[in-house]
Amino acid sequence: MALFTRKEPILGIDISPSAVKLIELSRSGTRFRVEAFAIEPLGEGVMEDRNPADTDDIAEAIKRAWRTSGARARRVAIAVPTSGVITRTVPMPAEFKESDIETNIAIEASQYIPYPVEEIYLDFEVKGPSQVSADMQDVMLVATRKENVDTREATLKNAGLIPAIVDVEAYALENTFRLLMDGLPKKEGGGLSLSKAHGGLTALIDIGATMTNLYILQDDSIIFTREQGFGCDLLTVRIAEAYGLSREQAEQAKRTGQLADDYGPMILEPFKQMLAEQIGHGLQFFFSSDLFVSGRYTVDSIVLVGGGALIMGLDRVVADVLGYTTLVGNPFKNMGSAGRVNSNALLRDAPLLALACGLALRSFD
Ligand SMILES: Nc1ncnc2c1ncn2[C@@H]1O[C@H](COP(=O)(O)OP(=O)(O)OP(=O)(O)O)[C@@H](O)[C@H]1O
Ligand SMILES: [Mg+2]
Repeated sequence: MALFTRKEPILGIDISPSAVKLIELSRSGTRFRVEAFAIEPLGEGVMEDRNPADTDDIAEAIKRAWRTSGARARRVAIAVPTSGVITRTVPMPAEFKESDIETNIAIEASQYIPYPVEEIYLDFEVKGPSQVSADMQDVMLVATRKENVDTREATLKNAGLIPAIVDVEAYALENTFRLLMDGLPKKEGGGLSLSKAHGGLTALIDIGATMTNLYILQDDSIIFTREQGFGCDLLTVRIAEAYGLSREQAEQAKRTGQLADDYGPMILEPFKQMLAEQIGHGLQFFFSSDLFVSGRYTVDSIVLVGGGALIMGLDRVVADVLGYTTLVGNPFKNMGSAGRVNSNALLRDAPLLALACGLALRSFD
């Protein structure tokens, strides 16, 4: 008897500059299990402007990931980068049904989206009655340039897989965050913190190879995002320069930590300090935005995901520099795993798989 249903599962595949990350999950009741996962590195330059440029190379990497992971599903959820998506909440007459919205959405979009309508894909979600007028409802427009979707879909098809869901990185991470929330400290008692009444905020930081994305979540919904143009590649570059290594050698040395004695004090510690300060700058953008009302919100904790979260001791430095409880996010903490899954590798790489995990969770929507 199959306890864990694998009926029509959807694979989560994160095609990112450093690697293809693939996960298949199953569920029994409220418990998830990792059925298969793989991380397949990508060569430099196969992604350009965060889109697949060399679709053949990436398709080969996806095929390898699929084979080595033992995944069975062929239907896939992928994500376009948050920065490649424009979202706007627009008012529409309350009596509009889905079909009316669909007819009118392109006209609405042309007012808000700085690209010709024929160059974008549009979607929408009805958010509910408008706060401003009883005759109106709020509709959230989501638009992205076609190339963001088409290049990813073509790559998947090239790899023999079936694109089933196109998501946005932010929404997929929101999905993962719901799993991470169990591990977050809960504010008890009143004290001076007003966060309880309004739902304390969490900052989710995805530190990648070239980009760092800051997401502010209220309960389990993202209310603010900011992309910052730095990532762990900077550390690779510094290692390569300091020790006269090629990028590949530096990348390898970074992961194993097998470098000269001065690596810690001269390079790694200053880099962690710099990352923490940059995260602090990102937070300042939120604190100075219209969304932030001083005294009403507090940030309760910071959760780190992405490759940067694997830098040993970064959580402690961020906590020291910024003064917030800081954790490394492991979406699989409460999950089991199938026999074929290398659970040590899964545990080690968990923060890298945050986005792929959020995509795989779409199987159970
Ligand atoms: N064990 C490790 N220790 C330190 N750094 C690591 C480790 N594993 C991976 N990294 C670094 O993490 C980065 C990759 O992270 P991640 O996979 O989250 O980025 P990405 O999603 O490909 O890129 P981006 O999010 O910027 O588009 C690389 O710079 C890599 O060197
Ligand atoms: Mg990433």
